[in-house]
Amino acid sequence: PKTASILDDPLLVLCNIDNPLPDGFSVDDLTTAQGKYQLSEVAAEAVKKMIAGAKKDGIELTICSAYRTISRQKELFADKLSYYKKQGMSDDEAYAKTATIIAVPGTSEHHTGLAADIVTPSYQTLDEGYMNTDAAKWLKAHCSEYGFILRYPIDKKDITKIIFEPWHFRYVGEYAKEITESGLCLEEWVEKVKSENR
Ligand code: DAL
Ligand code: ZN
Repeated sequence: PKTASILDDPLLVLCNIDNPLPDGFSVDDLTTAQGKYQLSEVAAEAVKKMIAGAKKDGIELTICSAYRTISRQKELFADKLSYYKKQGMSDDEAYAKTATIIAVPGTSEHHTGLAADIVTPSYQTLDEGYMNTDAAKWLKAHCSEYGFILRYPIDKKDITKIIFEPWHFRYVGEYAKEITESGLCLEEWVEKVKSENR
């Protein structure tokens, strides 16, 4: 019989191109995180605390994406795909490039209600330059205190198959500090946990 693992915790779900969410996956406890943006309840409560914590340090954080339906992800994916095709890429090239930026629908953490894209009013462009803002630096330094991890680190693109996203934070609850301190991305950390039979 399969023994219980900490990875059975739904907060540790690994959602990526190799691990799509099951058909019919849904989130039944969506609640407001900020403005029109919704997250699963635990993540919403945590992000509110994080936004308040940042504010005390003089940093204004603003969510620019949170829970997304598969149909919304399909729209985002199609828009980016057509953009790259118009730039002259072949269908295959455009698809491959898009998939590193917008997760293939059904494989996005945004479907889980556990991920949020977080920026700051003075810098809302989702590009690498965001990493140099006080907001991104604060988030990187403090997110784990609130149960979040920086999900797509700059040095893990080959493993995550996603570009560096200094704005994308994933709620994992009590494991955030361990994961962050390990220097591993979620894919690597999950493998480590499996090898340790935790
Ligand atoms: N931009 C991230 C990878 C997503 O679409 O889920
Ligand atoms: Zn994101």
